[in-house]
Amino acid sequence: MQIEDVWIRKVFTGRGDVTVEVELTVEDPSSGEVLVTRAAAPAGASRGMHEVAYFPEGGVDAALAAFEKLVAPEVVGLDVTEAYVVDGKLEEVDGTPRFERIGGAVAIATSFAAAEAGAAALGIPLFAFIGGAYARKLPLPLGNVIGGGKHSRGLGPDIQEFLVMPLNPPDIFTAVYANVEVHKRALKQILKVDSSFTGGKNDEGAWTPRISSRTALKILKEVAAEVGGELGVEIGLGVDVAASSLWNGEKYVYKNEGVERGPREQLEFVAKLIEEFDLVYVEDPFHEEDFQSFAELTDKYRDRLIVGDDLFVTNPARIREGGKLKAATGVIVKPDQIGTLLRAYQAVITAREYGMRPVVSHRSGDTEYKTLAHIAVGFGADVIKTGIMGGERTAKLNELIRLGDYLGKWAVLPQRHWR
Ligand code: PGA
Ligand code: ZN
Repeated sequence: MQIEDVWIRKVFTGRGDVTVEVELTVEDPSSGEVLVTRAAAPAGASRGMHEVAYFPEGGVDAALAAFEKLVAPEVVGLDVTEAYVVDGKLEEVDGTPRFERIGGAVAIATSFAAAEAGAAALGIPLFAFIGGAYARKLPLPLGNVIGGGKHSRGLGPDIQEFLVMPLNPPDIFTAVYANVEVHKRALKQILKVDSSFTGGKNDEGAWTPRISSRTALKILKEVAAEVGGELGVEIGLGVDVAASSLWNGEKYVYKNEGVERGPREQLEFVAKLIEEFDLVYVEDPFHEEDFQSFAELTDKYRDRLIVGDDLFVTNPARIREGGKLKAATGVIVKPDQIGTLLRAYQAVITAREYGMRPVVSHRSGDTEYKTLAHIAVGFGADVIKTGIMGGERTAKLNELIRLGDYLGKWAVLPQRHWR
């Protein structure tokens, strides 16, 4: 099953970022049947310094030109049942480690579309194409209820994301429902402490009141206990500090709180939040070069998910560096950060070599595509971080519910076995 034709166009993410969508046509030589698959690249706002280049110099139009000139002539004719060959070709035609010539957006959209084509050619779901016949573990959904930082234009709390995750759900529908219910009910509690709040949501569909980080966590704790009690599910709390966005080279600047914290104070602050709110998930508590502080925190809390996003940028070499230092217990996997599914898969393998759990994640500017749900199941990820509200978020969550149906009694939901 060879790629017959390729196409690229400009489309938009849910936030309105211009991104690229790649379309592939594949023809079955025996039956003459034609398959068309397509995929788009998501876009980040609090990007890690070490991510691949999103577009080449010159922006989206340069990306389109690079696709036509460098990618299209080389991928036509490749066999999509070995989609990783397409990924390898992308690396070859670009020739730079950060995809500076074709851009990461072109690379990941092509990589996703090729994997979709491979699955379609074999007549199997994408998750099975990625993970094989025995892939049947569904991830626990992790989603943000209250948001601050860059995703809220600096108007909300200083910490970027306040998250919830069901820890022992009986099935995937109940898991998603728990998060949805916490999100809905949180509004009432927010209005009690911020009466000027008009129900604004940020890029990822999280509420953006003007409250402190501690107040946000207090609200989540109360609502999670209430919803968890009703559903008979334990709901854990988490944060994505996105600390690189707070770091000014010397200190972490909490603008809305009016506080600055040095590295040592930051460690104490985060440890206190973990203790006070029994946080099960902490992402990027330190800036993207501070492997050492990550290691110190992880040493104290090996039973929680201490996760690197900007720290690792889905880069196998950085994950290995962190693994050697025991810098984290979890690794964010954003395939677009590294440019191809092949490399993202290598990131997952490397994380596991060092006992770190993969957390497959969306971007703040995401698309209506459901690809990420299949990647999470295909990779056997313990957790999927994909928000709670908004069409580009529910696209992935609803697909997980469908996959739960598809797998039926063979579906496995991870429990909180890491604590
Ligand atoms: P993004 O960041 O805005 O770059 O997608 C999300 C995150 O920090 O997890
Ligand atoms: Zn993050």
